[in-house]
Amino acid sequence: QNERDSQFIVSDYAKNHFHRLLLNSDEGMSIGYGYLKERGLNLSTIQTFELGYSLDSWDDLMKAAETAGYDKKYFEKTGLTVIKTDDQGKDTGRRYDRFRGRVMFPIHNISGRVVGFGARTLKRDDKMAKYLNSPESEIYHKSDVLYGLFQARQAIRTEEVCYLVEGYLDVLSLYQGGIKNVVASSGTSLTEGQIRLIKRYADNVTVLYDGDAAGIKASLRGTDLLLEGGLNVRVVLFPDGDDPDSYIRKVGDQRFAEYIETKSQDFISFKTTLVAREASNDPVKKAEAIRDVLHSIAKVPDAIKRQVFLQQTSATFGIDEQVLITEYNKLVKSPT
Ligand code: CTP
Ligand code: MN
Ligand code: MN
Ligand code: MN
Ligand code: MN
Repeated sequence: QNERDSQFIVSDYAKNHFHRLLLNSDEGMSIGYGYLKERGLNLSTIQTFELGYSLDSWDDLMKAAETAGYDKKYFEKTGLTVIKTDDQGKDTGRRYDRFRGRVMFPIHNISGRVVGFGARTLKRDDKMAKYLNSPESEIYHKSDVLYGLFQARQAIRTEEVCYLVEGYLDVLSLYQGGIKNVVASSGTSLTEGQIRLIKRYADNVTVLYDGDAAGIKASLRGTDLLLEGGLNVRVVLFPDGDDPDSYIRKVGDQRFAEYIETKSQDFISFKTTLVAREASNDPVKKAEAIRDVLHSIAKVPDAIKRQVFLQQTSATFGIDEQVLITEYNKLVKSPT
């Protein structure tokens, strides 16, 4: 049995432990399960995603694992146990559970094995971070994992599109609402590894980011990478202050599905409209905006699609297409 196997085994043990606490302990049922119910999740979703609860205790998991005969070394290596160090970074010998009093979201790899956890605090005005996540380990490389992909992969294949959201709850609410082809980047910016993962299942991605400034920025940033990966990218914006989870809860499954169907826009068109609006009639800003869009178009591997986007951009900005193409050709030749 090698190192990685041992890390998988303790992660699986912790997942089962947290899941059992959520459904079978007084604290887990009243606090953890109560919270998830309040957020609209049902038992079937909780079971499909193997959600759990960590007791509000310094050592519940460590104690249980020890009693069950596990080697504590692997709990340290997967970050389930925190090693307390002093100011010089030296091990003090003290240990405690990383996840305490939180709802647990196990993160599965594409074979369905648990590689890490996301964990949400239940306190409204917590000084602690809203989400805590497992650190990187030999089995958990954040940049190579998408939350929900294990549960979504079949639906992504059949629907031929992958919905990309920011958060854990967004995945769970959409899945429960019948949109099963959904994964989350978990707040971080998309990586090439994650894009390659999506590409194994579909050529189309629709980005459903939060309807705030950060969400819009993130969709602009992340999508150039998606284009480079050869994916067709569409974007849906939500009303300011809403994310996919809050919005589906507000309008219901049916209207949510209609909303993403009718409001999705091609990414290049979305970006063109956005930057065109911001540049208004300032010629310098407008020129900058056009170059910005041209840079995105240059990322599209398909020559025919590039041609269509160039036509659209020329129409949106009211710039002669030949002039635009000349600029485009200059830009792709210069390595900036
Ligand atoms: N995130 C994180 N650490 C944080 C905040 C966010 O890892 N301190 C990640 C989580 O994966 C989270 C995602 O970024 O799900 C999106 O963040 P946010 O929109 O703030 O949270 P929500 O998912 O909307 O969570 P909730 O609805 O429970 O507030
Ligand atoms: Mn890696
Ligand atoms: Mn947000
Ligand atoms: Mn959110
Ligand atoms: Mn949310």
